[in-house]
Amino acid sequence: MMQNDKKVDPQRTIVLYTSKYGAAETYARWIAEALGCRAVPLDKFSKKELRGYDTVIYGGGVQAGGIRGLEQFTKWIKGDLKLRQMAKRGTISEAEASEIGAFDRQYYIFAVGISLDSEENRLQLRDINFDKDCLRELPCFFLPGAFDPAKLAGVDKAIIKVATKMFQDKPEAQAAAEDAQVLRYFETGCDLIDRTRTTALIESVKSGAVPEEFRDTREPEPKKSFWKR
Ligand SMILES: Cc1cc2nc3c(=O)[nH]c(=O)nc-3n(C[C@H](O)[C@H](O)[C@H](O)COP(=O)(O)O)c2cc1C
Repeated sequence: MMQNDKKVDPQRTIVLYTSKYGAAETYARWIAEALGCRAVPLDKFSKKELRGYDTVIYGGGVQAGGIRGLEQFTKWIKGDLKLRQMAKRGTISEAEASEIGAFDRQYYIFAVGISLDSEENRLQLRDINFDKDCLRELPCFFLPGAFDPAKLAGVDKAIIKVATKMFQDKPEAQAAAEDAQVLRYFETGCDLIDRTRTTALIESVKSGAVPEEFRDTREPEPKKSFWKR
């Protein structure tokens, strides 16, 4: 277990979440309970309220590779992330970025899904959700969710139908072992929700140190020139 060498002020810590079927909400509440802070749905929160916090954790269920609500959340924090990136690249100094408040808050993301335990799927999730350079520094934790085919609402039924067909039609050579498992989950449902899986995130928040497996340590792609496509 990591050392708790950083004081986390529960009054200045918040867990925000978007949850359609309840799994991300369950995790948000557990994480908030462990940190002694509040858990609030993203749609009941506003950008200007962020100013009251030093540590902001955002989590959402995964739908077709996208973390629900993440786009909205990152819109709010992009200013900070861009300034940090400029400081990293030396466009502005760390002191300047710090003065404007770019380092005032620590951000943590968690994604809740039923197929996030493989390295390949995690990297794919990072590529889909943290596609802008400035988003790459966000740590992302992966938590196992739940799926009940009887409870599918709205367009979700249609999405699962298409996804099922895609998995079934995959040439055998490309089909991974996890694919068969996801197909089984789609058919019969699953409940993988597990409180112990929140430990890594909680410890990271408390210690201020994020283990490598929850950060994107890949080299950034070289920038494509406008002229050389
Ligand atoms: C339409 C739909 C698409 C989904 N796509 C994915 C996916 O791409 N990857 C994954 O790991 N889980 C996927 N899931 C499973 C959900 O992420 C999982 O059920 C999670 O617990 C949902 O979070 P929530 O209960 O907070 O809404 C999907 C579920 C639905 C209903």
